[in-house]
Amino acid sequence: MERQEQQKASRLVFVLYPSQGHINPMLQLATILHSKGFSITIIHPKFNSPNSSNYPEFTFIPISDNLPESQDSFGDILGIVSALNKNCERPLTECIQQMLKAEDPQDRLSCIVYDSVMHFSQSVADHLKLPGISVRTGPAATMFAFAVCPRLDEQGYISFLESMSLDGKSDLLSLLLKELAFSMKKFTAHGLLEFRAAVTDSVQRCSALIFNTVDFIEQEALTKVQELFSASAFTIGPFHKLAPTISSSLLKEDSHCISWLNKQAPKSVIYVSFGSIASIDEKELLETAWGLANCEQPFLWVVRPGLVRGSNCLELLPINFQDSVGERGCIVEWAPQKEVLANDAAGGFWSHCGWNSTLESICEGIPMLCRPFFGDQNVNRRYVCDVWNVGLELEEFERGKIEKAIKTLMVDTEGEEMRKKATHLKEKVGLSLKEGGSCYNSLNDLAEKILSFRPNEDGASGPTSVFSC
Ligand code: UDX
Repeated sequence: MERQEQQKASRLVFVLYPSQGHINPMLQLATILHSKGFSITIIHPKFNSPNSSNYPEFTFIPISDNLPESQDSFGDILGIVSALNKNCERPLTECIQQMLKAEDPQDRLSCIVYDSVMHFSQSVADHLKLPGISVRTGPAATMFAFAVCPRLDEQGYISFLESMSLDGKSDLLSLLLKELAFSMKKFTAHGLLEFRAAVTDSVQRCSALIFNTVDFIEQEALTKVQELFSASAFTIGPFHKLAPTISSSLLKEDSHCISWLNKQAPKSVIYVSFGSIASIDEKELLETAWGLANCEQPFLWVVRPGLVRGSNCLELLPINFQDSVGERGCIVEWAPQKEVLANDAAGGFWSHCGWNSTLESICEGIPMLCRPFFGDQNVNRRYVCDVWNVGLELEEFERGKIEKAIKTLMVDTEGEEMRKKATHLKEKVGLSLKEGGSCYNSLNDLAEKILSFRPNEDGASGPTSVFSC
């Protein structure tokens, strides 16, 4: 069969983890592989269903997740992750079995491409004798961390790591291990170690690994990952730069902020967003508001529903805050973030350091003010501030510190070197995406790898049907 025909005959089943920071990169990856000629089926839990109408060329199939009816937010992340991995295994297996029964020989199921958080998908792939590809939507460093973590615990290294000094800040592995020590101590009782061990176990059995990262920004971690796992790793990030800008937002994007941005001076605006899950308390909201009011820069602030624990956020902002900022501030519930960061007026990003936000920021050369909340955000902060040197850390939600940090980030000479490094990093990432660059080559290698998978020999021929499982 000719290469192009062979690709058309290959259907990829994607399994989503239903959180905004995971849905975005997975749908971007699906879009990238679709542009390479593969056909796409997206299987997703009913909770936080993506908007299928934005992707008319994909087939979307919701599966039962059995999450409690009251589950309307990501309050208990580990509880949701564990329930999804338990509850979705049977529906996913049945769903793919139905697909195989109804399979068209011209559109054969090639492999299961799953978010590594949905680790049970590898067991489904093994059971159905299909190749599984694990996608780590976060930094590759965390895959290394997942693998070494349980072992560190067994050997009693936690207290040693906690006492470790952070001299020699550019040693990534020391930084990473230190972050791990803190998170392990905090979360061991809640099953984080079990989760990490399950992800590691699934990756040990997968046929390939995909990372939303660029070789040169995570070289050390990628080398470690390849030492630990035998599956080939493909680094084809930043996904969002290769996929056209189709929105996969679960909340409605407020595009009036783009017309506001268009009226601001180049590189003058500090954009503030803490992603889709992190939350703050009322005091932190007020300190943020006054820090922004006092910094004298124009600001675009995403105050999403649920950002402030137990309150309607905007009602908490005092009248004199609104009066003092006037047109200098723009507050929205959800922004078209990639468009915001790509706007000439964007000059700084105060972020929680989610991996998508981090990649989106470095791709536009925007320096970052980092205030991580949990998980990989701590590792990402280390990358931004101590490894790539394109940002600085905000130590606490205190108006004076916020004001000073924003001025350093955006205008003071102290931040000049960091701003230059951010521009330089953007250029280097851009090169990796061009023909012959590491991302470009890795994507071609990935397409070849998928084509080398044998079609499932048990599949019967017949028309492909669209159904809900
Ligand atoms: C979660 C975790 O918290 C994060 O640590 C992990 O790396 C990915 O999963 P989240 O907190 O939502 O993600 O942050 P992030 O990874 O930055 O993803 C948020 C996404 O929502 C980004 O793609 C961003 O562009 C988008 N977004 C955010 C908007 O489109 N509009 C907004 O107003 C805010």
